[in-house]
Formats: sequence, C-alpha cells, structure tokens
Amino acid sequence: MKLKTYYLVGVFIILISSCLLSTYAFATENDECMECHSDDSLERTESEGMKEDLFIDYNKFKYSVHNVNGITCVDCHSDIEELNWDNDVPHETSLAMVKCEECHEEEGEAYLDSVHKKAGGKGITIPCYACHGYHFVSHLTSDSVFERENKFCLRCHNPDSFHDWLPQKQTHFAFVECAVCHAPDSPRYISLRFYDLISNKFLGAENLLAALETDYDGFMDKVDKDQDGIISLQELEDMVLLLRQKDIRGTFHGELVLELVPSVHHVNRGGANRECEQCHNPESPFFEEVYISLNREDGTGDRHRVERRVLESYYVNHFYAIGGTRVRNLDKIGLVLIVGGLSVVTGHLLVRIATAPVRRKRKQKKDEFSI
Ligand code: HEC
Ligand code: HEC
Ligand code: HEC
Ligand code: HEC
Ligand code: HEC
Ligand code: HEC
Ligand code: HEC
Repeated sequence: MKLKTYYLVGVFIILISSCLLSTYAFATENDECMECHSDDSLERTESEGMKEDLFIDYNKFKYSVHNVNGITCVDCHSDIEELNWDNDVPHETSLAMVKCEECHEEEGEAYLDSVHKKAGGKGITIPCYACHGYHFVSHLTSDSVFERENKFCLRCHNPDSFHDWLPQKQTHFAFVECAVCHAPDSPRYISLRFYDLISNKFLGAENLLAALETDYDGFMDKVDKDQDGIISLQELEDMVLLLRQKDIRGTFHGELVLELVPSVHHVNRGGANRECEQCHNPESPFFEEVYISLNREDGTGDRHRVERRVLESYYVNHFYAIGGTRVRNLDKIGLVLIVGGLSVVTGHLLVRIATAPVRRKRKQKKDEFSI
C-alpha cells in the first residue's frame, strides 16, 4: 500500500473511534438523573394544586427487571438526549409518555385484542403500567396466584361480585389465576410451591435449597435421582421425607397459572372459560404441565418439570381436580353444589379451613394495596 492509503486509513480509524467515544461520553448514566431524583423531597405542584412526587427509590429500581437487564432511565425516557446543566431543570419539564410497546412489540400487539385497550374507545385509557407499574416492574415467573391477581386484576375488579355460577368461588380464585379463564387461548401450567406447616409460610427457594443442602444448579442432581430431567412421584416424596428429617414439615401447594406469553393480554368480555369439564376431568389438558419454580434473588426463577401423577399425591395439598379417583369425588361435590346447594355449608367450611393460609395471605396483600 502507498503511504497515502495508510494515512487515509489512519484518519478513518481516528474519525470512527472519536465518534464512538463521543456517543459513549454523551450516554446519560442513571447516576446523573439520581443527583436530583434521589432527593425524597423532590416534588412539583400540579395545576390542580396536587403534589406530584418526583423521587425515585433507587434501591427498589435496582432490583427491577429492567435495571437487571441493563435498561437505563434514558432508554425509557428516550426524549432526554442530554442533560443541560446550565438550566435549573436540565431537561424538558414536559417529557413524552414512555412507550412500553416500543420494546415490547408483541405484547403491544396482543394488547390490541383486549377489553382494556378497547376501553380507549370509551375514553378510558388503561396503559401498560396500570397493571405492571413502571419503575419497579418485576419478573412474574415465580409469583403466586395471589401475587399475580393482587398485582393486576384486583386493583380494579372485585371478582366476588361476579361468578355466581361458579361454586367455591374463593377456592377457584385462590388456585386459578384470573387470566387462566379470562385469556383462554394462553397456555398454562401447574406451579408447585412448598408450604411450610410450622411457620405457615411458603418456603422461599433459598431456604428450601439450604435445607436440601444444595443450590440452584445442584437441585436437580439432588432430587432427580434417575437423572431423566423429570421429578417423579417417588422422587418428590423422597424430597418431602428428606425435608422432614430436617424438621421441615409441609406439603406442596399446586396452582394453575399462565405461561408468560403475549396472548395473556387477550382478556375480553364474554370470552372466558366456564365449562367445568375442561378442568375437572382426569384427562384435562389444563393439568398436563407441572413444574416446581425456584425463585432467585433477582426475581427470576428456575423451573423444573414434575411428573403429572404427583397431583394425586398425599404431598400435594388440596389438589383434587385431577387424577383418577379424586376427580370423581370432586365431580360429585361439584354436582351436589350445583344441583342442591345442600352441602354448601359443610363444603364451604372445609374449603375455608383448607384455604386458610391462602386467604390470610390474600388479605395481607389486599391491605397493602389499600394503604
Ligand atoms: C438538576 C436536577 C435534575 C436532574 C439531573 C434530572 N432531573 Fe428530572 N426533573 C427535575 C425537576 C426539578 C423536575 C420537575 C420539573 C417541573 O418543574 O415540572 C423533573 C422532572 C422529571 C420528569 C417528569 C417530567 C414530565 O414530563 O412529567 C421525568 C420523567 C424526569 N425528570 C426524568 C429524569 C431523567 C430520566 C433524568 C436523567 C437523564 C433526570 N430527570 C435528571 C430535576 C432533575
Ligand atoms: C421501564 C421504563 C422506565 C424506566 C427504566 C424509567 N422510567 Fe421513569 N417513568 C416511566 C413511566 C412509564 C413513567 C410515568 C408516565 C410517563 O412518563 O409515561 C415514568 C415517570 C417518571 C417520573 C415522574 C414521576 C413518577 O414517578 O411518575 C420521573 C421523575 C422518572 N420517571 C424518572 C426516572 C428515572 C430517574 C429513572 C432511572 C433511575 C427512570 N425514570 C427509569 C418509565 C420508566
Ligand atoms: C389489564 C392488565 C394488563 C395490562 C393493561 C397489560 N398487561 Fe402485561 N400482563 C398482564 C398479565 C396478567 C400478565 C401475565 C402475568 C401472569 O401470568 O402473572 C402480563 C404479562 C406481561 C409480560 C410478560 C409476558 C410476556 O409476554 O413476556 C410482559 C412483557 C407484559 N405483560 C408487557 C405489557 C405491555 C408492554 C403492556 C402494554 C402494551 C401490557 N403488558 C399491558 C396484565 C396486563
Ligand atoms: C428500552 C426498552 C424497554 C422499554 C421501553 C420497556 N421495557 Fe420492559 N423489558 C425490557 C427488557 C430488556 C426486559 C427483560 C427481558 C425480558 O424479560 O423480556 C423487560 C422486561 C419486562 C417485563 C418482565 C417480563 C417477564 O418475562 O417477566 C415486564 C412485565 C415489562 N418489561 C413491562 C414493561 C412496561 C410496563 C413498560 C413501560 C412502562 C416497559 N416494560 C418498557 C425492555 C423494555
Ligand atoms: C386499571 C384498572 C384495571 C385493571 C388492573 C384490570 N381491569 Fe379489567 N376492566 C377495567 C375497566 C375500566 C373495564 C371496562 C372496560 C369497558 O367498559 O369497556 C374492564 C373490563 C374487564 C372485563 C370485561 C367485563 C366488563 O365488566 O366490562 C373483564 C372480563 C376484565 N376487565 C377482566 C380483567 C382481568 C382478568 C384483569 C387482570 C388481568 C383485569 N381486568 C385488570 C379496568 C381494569
Ligand atoms: C373458572 C374460570 C374463571 C376464573 C378463575 C375467573 N373468572 Fe371472571 N369470569 C369467568 C366467566 C366465564 C365470566 C362470565 C363472562 C365471560 O364469559 O366473560 C366471568 C366474568 C367476569 C367479569 C365480568 C364480566 C362481565 O361481562 O360482566 C369480571 C370483571 C371478571 N370475571 C374478573 C375476574 C377476576 C378479576 C378474576 C380473578 C380474581 C376472575 N374473573 C376469575 C370465568 C372466570
Ligand atoms: C380453569 C379450570 C377450572 C374450571 C373452568 C373450573 N374449575 Fe373448579 N377448580 C379448579 C381448580 C384448580 C380447583 C382447586 C383445586 C382443588 O381444590 O382441587 C377447583 C376447585 C373446585 C371445587 C372445590 C373442591 C374442593 O375440594 O375444595 C369445586 C366444588 C369446583 N372446583 C367445581 C367447579 C364447577 C362446578 C365448575 C364449573 C361451573 C368449575 N369448578 C370450573 C379448576 C377449575
């Protein structure tokens, strides 16, 4: 090559790298925003005289699914291109609304087919964050039915005022996530969580793993003895016995929840599942997939496949909906309730006892939200 070419290439490289450097230098870091927005007295007065809080609790933001995945303040508040430190407020005071669907395209699309989005036609706007929140969005995989319902639907609806055709309403709400019925085209699965009968609490993954003397990566090696990737009935029972040796007594609690796919947003009037046989039938496709989820600190979860037969096990608490013998009993209970309403009193009492821990938790959550 001639000297001139070398020279040109050199200039080119310098130009490119200075471009890269400058974009790097101008990318606004979260720290810069937090210089002001970490001040818990930062607020402004709205036109109606209401105060708007402009404080961001960074300790909570830190654990949000967005921060954990490297999404920064300006990735969402994308109309702030740079901060102008000469001004009192270094950015526009009237920023554009954040568009969640710019990143979550499929969900944005799925949401179009939803009674909530369509309510826009009547002048009711329900943005994504009415359900999900925005600064503190968490992963959903490892949430229980109560957490899922409380976070979402129960903020605006009181399901007790509907569903009079459904016997054991409370039991259904406790074991079946609302959207399992209301977004019927979405896949679902049974999630098993360990309920500690001594502390009357669900045992977090950390504690469960500690008691089993293993960790997230070692869990299957420890439990799935034949290493076929599925926890069998025998293997589940062995695990419960192992826990008993450590003085941890409890049972697995099964819940019917949704896979996290965009079609969970397809909630529409008149479109919900109501046929009892869809679920209360030994062959029900609703109960094919059974998993144990282990929550991690950062809110993500690991899921491990469990043999469907465990739902008939003595160690899976209160899950009579499936399996041979138990489902026939259930159908009888269901029928009696529908036809005669005779056993409602005793039946109700039984269910109340069986679901007591669950209802207590639900109430706690409700209280949190009413504050
Ligand atoms: C020097 C202090 C300061 C810094 C730095 C700062 N802000 Fe602000 N921010 C404010 C003040 C003050 C307001 C209220 C403005 C007003 O009077 O309406 C505000 C308002 C906002 C609002 C509400 C605007 C609206 O349209 O309702 C958002 C969002 C916001 N800031 C995000 C950010 C982000 C993101 C960063 C970092 C890129 C940042 N701020 C950096 C002081 C600051
Ligand atoms: C996942 C997207 C997302 C991220 C990341 C994000 N915000 Fe926001 N922020 C929103 C949304 C949505 C709103 C509410 C309405 C709107 O502006 O669209 C909002 C509102 C605000 C407000 C107005 C007050 C309030 O709480 O409603 C401030 C101030 C603010 N953000 C600052 C920040 C700062 C500082 C960061 C980084 C630490 C940040 N935001 C990160 C989405 C986000
Ligand atoms: C009426 C409440 C509601 C609204 C509004 C809503 N969602 Fe959801 N979203 C849900 C529920 C319920 C789930 C499933 C969570 C579960 O099963 O616990 C979900 C799941 C998700 C998930 C995880 C599943 C996946 O597809 O990866 C994302 C991401 C998501 N929503 C984004 C959005 C976005 C973006 C919008 C706005 C376009 C939005 N949501 C509006 C209720 C809502
Ligand atoms: C700049 C891109 C971006 C914007 C804007 C954004 N998100 Fe996200 N969001 C992500 C990424 C990346 C993840 C983590 C990867 C994943 O799970 O999809 C995520 C994860 C999520 C999850 C968890 C999904 C799960 O599988 O558990 C929800 C719920 C969610 N976002 C809702 C929202 C909402 C509501 C808004 C608007 C307030 C929003 N996002 C705005 C990029 C974005
Ligand atoms: C932010 C408040 C809000 C949240 C959260 C919410 N909804 Fe709604 N929902 C509404 C409003 C408002 C309507 C009425 C829309 C209309 O009149 O067209 C509605 C309508 C409905 C309808 C149609 C029946 C009716 O009364 O019009 C169903 C079914 C429904 N929601 C189920 C759910 C489920 C399931 C969830 C949880 C995933 C949920 N909603 C979360 C506000 C909410
Ligand atoms: C076993 C299935 C099932 C479960 C679980 C369930 N629903 Fe429903 N729900 C229905 C059916 C079926 C209807 C009748 C209207 C329809 O088909 O949409 C209905 C009606 C409703 C309505 C009124 C709709 C209207 O047209 O007036 C709302 C609101 C609602 N449900 C919210 C919820 C919420 C919130 C939850 C969770 C706490 C929930 N549902 C749990 C099946 C269910
Ligand atoms: C989407 C699936 C689904 C649908 C649809 C459904 N159920 Fe259920 N049902 C369940 C689950 C899951 C449980 C809780 C697990 C259990 O108790 O076995 C349950 C519990 C019950 C119970 C309480 C059993 C007990 O021992 O506490 C009765 C009774 C019942 N269902 C009857 C019905 C009737 C009658 C219908 C139709 C009107 C119906 N269910 C529709 C899934 C469903």
